[in-house]
Amino acid sequence: MDYFEITGNKPLRGTVPISGAKNAALPVIAATLLSDQPVELAHLPNVVDIRTLLTLLERLGATVTHRETEARIDPGPITSTKAVYEIVAQMRASILVLGPLLTRFGECEVSLPGGCAIGQRPIDLHLKALEAMGAQIEIKMGYVRAVAPRGGLQGARIVFDKITVGGTENALMAAAMAHGETRIINAAREPEIVQLCEMLVQGGVAIDGIGTGTLTVHGTGGRTLHWEEPVTIIPDRIEAGTYLCAGAITHSTITLERVVIEHIQAMIDKLEAMGCRFEIQANRITIVPPERLLPVNIVTTEYPGFPTDMQAQFMAVATLIEGESLIEERLFENRFMHVSELKRLGADISLKGNVAAIKGVEALYGAEVMATDLRASSALVLAALAARGTTRIRRIYHLDRGYDDLEGKLSALGAEVIRKR
Ligand code: UD1
Repeated sequence: MDYFEITGNKPLRGTVPISGAKNAALPVIAATLLSDQPVELAHLPNVVDIRTLLTLLERLGATVTHRETEARIDPGPITSTKAVYEIVAQMRASILVLGPLLTRFGECEVSLPGGCAIGQRPIDLHLKALEAMGAQIEIKMGYVRAVAPRGGLQGARIVFDKITVGGTENALMAAAMAHGETRIINAAREPEIVQLCEMLVQGGVAIDGIGTGTLTVHGTGGRTLHWEEPVTIIPDRIEAGTYLCAGAITHSTITLERVVIEHIQAMIDKLEAMGCRFEIQANRITIVPPERLLPVNIVTTEYPGFPTDMQAQFMAVATLIEGESLIEERLFENRFMHVSELKRLGADISLKGNVAAIKGVEALYGAEVMATDLRASSALVLAALAARGTTRIRRIYHLDRGYDDLEGKLSALGAEVIRKR
């Protein structure tokens, strides 16, 4: 199995291009199921999760041509509406095919995603939303089997008890081809949701309230969607935030290209509070860290708040800041698996419930560590970049799921990152 060998304590310099957002691309790929004609996608990140979902679509019968950052998906020849365990187990986000398959074909079966390293992550809210639209849902032998009422899903009022990104996406896609109006209340407002809404609008669906917590979808009543122009994926705000943290933890001035500043504002605000300066020009941002960073307090919340997907990376940065930083995780239970691995590098972190207290140490030292989930793994990479000596990070398949050419991009900035097997 591949692992990274990182020799740290080296300054970085240069410019890093930000790839398309994995979490935006996944629902976009799922939404192509709402068409019966080819759809072109551009600026896809070249990561394993994207390939997994494209494979799932192929297994359903779609014709897929995929080359690095571009894909052409022809859902016309789809013959199956069953998303099998073998693929769903590799990636929880496969559940995103549930809404579009159900609304387009009237029935489908999607394997339950099962457990996950960062907590239970149930899908009850996805199912409730579809039930509100008239779907009959049963869970049998590890599969969610959903059947739409005769004539198709009906527009409904959906109130999410809790803000859910995936649940909002499934509800949006299901509503796109339903009969009548669907109002989604307490919807997620992440940029990935906005991208999906804009894609649905481009495909022929009217949606009001895009970017707000109340979305009103005027369903097409069974008419399929069509995309004449390619759908271009937005830049990955989490990848961007991770490289900003790479600048901060190594005290290096680095520039990111192709970012949407508004999407990363919560991270910029925290890094500013830590003493970093920024130079911003349209979609380019340069981070200029101070000699000594200041401790920080972070609470993860839904967008536009501080993202849970950046919690681990900021914790890595905090391990080397004199004083005490506090990080509270509000979205997922058990999203602190990076703590024990960061401690192996010499970090001083104590956990109390969902709050981590990080006392800055003078130095981290290279060690053997293990990646546990996608973002936790990137925290280990960041810590390794600043650590003295060499760190070996095992199980980097987690990183390959979501970071496009991580070692190439870091090496271009002057880091010593070698992939070995
Ligand atoms: C998405 C992102 C993930 C990010 C998360 C929160 C993708 C592919 N993944 O995950 O990187 O960390 O948003 O920003 O876009 N919940 C329920 N019932 C449900 C659904 C969710 O209780 O049916 C809970 C979850 O357990 C969690 C919270 O709601 O505590 C938010 O989860 P959600 O927004 O749904 O996350 P994902 O869409 O899975």
